[in-house]
Amino acid sequence: MTQFRHSLDSADIDALIANHQPGYSLEQAFYIAPEIFEEEFTHLFSRQWQFADHISRIPKQGDYFLFAIAGEEIIVVRGEGDTVYAHFNVCRHRGSRVCLAAEGHVKRMTCPYHAWSYRLDGSLAHARELPESVDKSKLSLQPCQVRVFEGLIFINLTAEGKGRVPDFASLVEPLRPWVEQADLRHTKIAHVESYRSQVNWKVALENYFECYHCLASHPEWCKIQLHALRDAVGTESAIETFEKKNEQWEVRARELGHMAGEMAGNFDFPDPESCYDAQIPYAERMMVNDNSGDLYSSLTPNGADMPSKLLGSYKADDEGQTDWGLTPSCFLYTTCTYSTVLRITPLGPLDTEQKVMWLVHEDAKEGIDYDIESMRWLVSATLTQDRQIVEDTQAGVSSRAYVPGPYGELESQVPQLQSIYLRALAYGRALRNDLKN
Ligand code: FES
Ligand code: FE
Repeated sequence: MTQFRHSLDSADIDALIANHQPGYSLEQAFYIAPEIFEEEFTHLFSRQWQFADHISRIPKQGDYFLFAIAGEEIIVVRGEGDTVYAHFNVCRHRGSRVCLAAEGHVKRMTCPYHAWSYRLDGSLAHARELPESVDKSKLSLQPCQVRVFEGLIFINLTAEGKGRVPDFASLVEPLRPWVEQADLRHTKIAHVESYRSQVNWKVALENYFECYHCLASHPEWCKIQLHALRDAVGTESAIETFEKKNEQWEVRARELGHMAGEMAGNFDFPDPESCYDAQIPYAERMMVNDNSGDLYSSLTPNGADMPSKLLGSYKADDEGQTDWGLTPSCFLYTTCTYSTVLRITPLGPLDTEQKVMWLVHEDAKEGIDYDIESMRWLVSATLTQDRQIVEDTQAGVSSRAYVPGPYGELESQVPQLQSIYLRALAYGRALRNDLKN
């Protein structure tokens, strides 16, 4: 693994932020340095709502899974009814991990070291031979905040009332009309693929937010997804072709009572303070392609059909899809019969997990209503290609020869995201200095 070649002090970080050249990729240190990653933890990862998983992973009281982010491990556990708790997986006795298996079912969470046990809400239930004077009520597992939106579990490492975090409700409320028709609350995970790469999370995220690379790197995606004409080809005539066909599709979709059009993600934040709390919801509902079902069948290796059981309140498959999400970790393509959900999670300065899950109707039967091989093929092939791209990019970005390069017109969202990121870091650092003084 490449190590950053010298350590950064606070003045170095200020200078790196201040000297960034807009419209160019970031300086090398942003993609490598552990000191920058630490700043990101303080000002971003620990304050932002991070997508953890789908609610169907923990259907029953006592079901749990572990969620790893930036060197931390969180126990996400189902409590009574719809309650979901999230706790740091750190025992309040002497710090051992409490839950060791990646997922499971517990009545209480019992630490394997000296057997302290915790209730699902994190409170300490039992600690053998502890002096009377010790106040057990002060020894709960350290809590995280949890919100569930349309079946998607988001956690925030900052405990309630312990620091400023973005307001979750106002982030996701605009998304609701775009996604509630699919009712992802009543879906199940049909398939999961996950890979870990020795890359910085921003290399992966920047790749997700542009389709400039799609023409060269994703031939299958470009064949099937008509919007590649706009987002990957990008010539005037290609954009016109897409828009014309999509407008005709919009009429059909609206006739069916389905959403169509765009809730443009707002990448335009007026000041550093709003950048500090920025997480961007976005949604666009558009056509996949003409005869997308036949197209899939003809291109998938085994020729099988796409999932058939309609999600939520859809009455017919209009061959549309909603491209939506909430930065920086939750990205979906939701059709009338299934949804992919991509999660990008920073694990370390040069360690990022990309996990994709396929959601189908909770009553759908494998082999009858959906075929995993067929369903996974396009996104799986595309993400495998992306994995190679981001690893090759990280290798080059880590080189002594790397210098920031200019962005093209088809990747305009990347410098916008970077501008928000840099202003958020600058604001957070200034805020901390003010508090110290
Ligand atoms: Fe957990 Fe001792 S460290 S019970
Ligand atoms: Fe890609």
